[in-house]
Amino acid sequence: MNKRALIVGITGQDGSYLSEFLVKKGYEVHGVIRRSSSFNTGRIEHLYQDPHESTVALKLHYGDLSDGSSLRKILSLVQPNEIYNLGAQSHVKVSFEQPVYTVEVDALGTIILLEAIRDTCPEARFYQAGSSEMFGKVQESPQTETTHFYPRSPYGCAKVFAHWQTINYREAYGAFACNGILFNHESPRRGETFVTRKITRAATRIKEGLQKKLYLGNLEAKRDWGFAGDYVEAMWLMLQQEKPDDYVVATGHTHSVKEFVKAVFTYLDIDWEQVVSVDPRYYRPTEVDLLLGNATKCREVLGWSPQVNFQELVKMMTEADWELARNERLIQENNQL
Ligand code: NAP
Ligand code: GDD
Repeated sequence: MNKRALIVGITGQDGSYLSEFLVKKGYEVHGVIRRSSSFNTGRIEHLYQDPHESTVALKLHYGDLSDGSSLRKILSLVQPNEIYNLGAQSHVKVSFEQPVYTVEVDALGTIILLEAIRDTCPEARFYQAGSSEMFGKVQESPQTETTHFYPRSPYGCAKVFAHWQTINYREAYGAFACNGILFNHESPRRGETFVTRKITRAATRIKEGLQKKLYLGNLEAKRDWGFAGDYVEAMWLMLQQEKPDDYVVATGHTHSVKEFVKAVFTYLDIDWEQVVSVDPRYYRPTEVDLLLGNATKCREVLGWSPQVNFQELVKMMTEADWELARNERLIQENNQL
């Protein structure tokens, strides 16, 4: 019988890549979605209906990390073999504006889910989406699984709680529970308010004459950026091992926001200094200046390595957004006829 996976956060960037990956592997994939007043399943729409078999490849259930009763019902019904907790208020800057909500979803939501699993399907394997934001003001470089955490935002603090809670369920109840400590990973499906996508969207719109300027915050921050499509494989690999454990997933290379800006605008043959300005509104009360991961354990134990490098990621995201901008311009021109 096919394995069953349940993804919380299936509508997000990672949820969509992980769904594709698991469907290809023959899993029966279930996802938790939130009711929204507008359409929120765009990233997984292409998977919802299997084009070859005219059957539903994904099964979606309404639920929320803040609502344990909905999670219990879904878990009892699905009885998944694997559960991936990707659900979160995932924006660091927003977490300063909504700290309590962020902690409710990202920290409490994780323990609500872990308790529901313990009651309904304790044998299921569990993946927790941990973050390099937990390293915050980094205590050593590069960062590994043993580097001390020093979170610098409500988001980072909430993820540290969820990380230790996951370890506690492993040690207290023998749960097969793993933490991925993932460094930043991006794609053409990245939310538009994260810096890489904000840059590729704006730069390509500027190229097509749809926008004049791009306003950014701290250009000096450095991140270890990889491709989301690569990173979901590492999540899956963690749950296929004999023993549950925690793993850093990263490329081992770091670049500043300014370097990302330069790479995108150079690709489009635009002088970035003419169109990019710094707006302090985008600064954070406390910044994470440098992230750089050491994924040796992930490479040696899981056999995982990233396939897309920095320049290829820049090209992939810029090309995808350029296509969107061209279409947007054509629609505008047609409307003017
Ligand atoms: P994302 O695009 O922001 O997706 C977040 C997902 O969580 C969405 O499906 C969202 O649903 C769902 N969600 C939000 N609040 C929820 C709630 N109360 N109950 C249930 N679901 C909820 O994030 P992502 O980039 O795919 O990241 C996936 C996970 O990895 C997140 O936990 C994030 O914190 C973590 N992470 C991400 C990165 C990265 O660089 N991308 C790095 C390290 C860790 P809606 O669509 O309805 O909003
Ligand atoms: N979003 C944003 N918008 N960031 C900006 C801007 C801007 O206009 N200008 C500069 N930055 C800087 C931020 O200050 C930060 O240092 C860096 O760009 C990256 O910001 P984000 O793309 O918002 O990502 P993040 O690193 O804060 O968080 C992402 O990665 C984490 C893993 O390290 C998110 O995906 C988190 O959910 C994830 O855990």
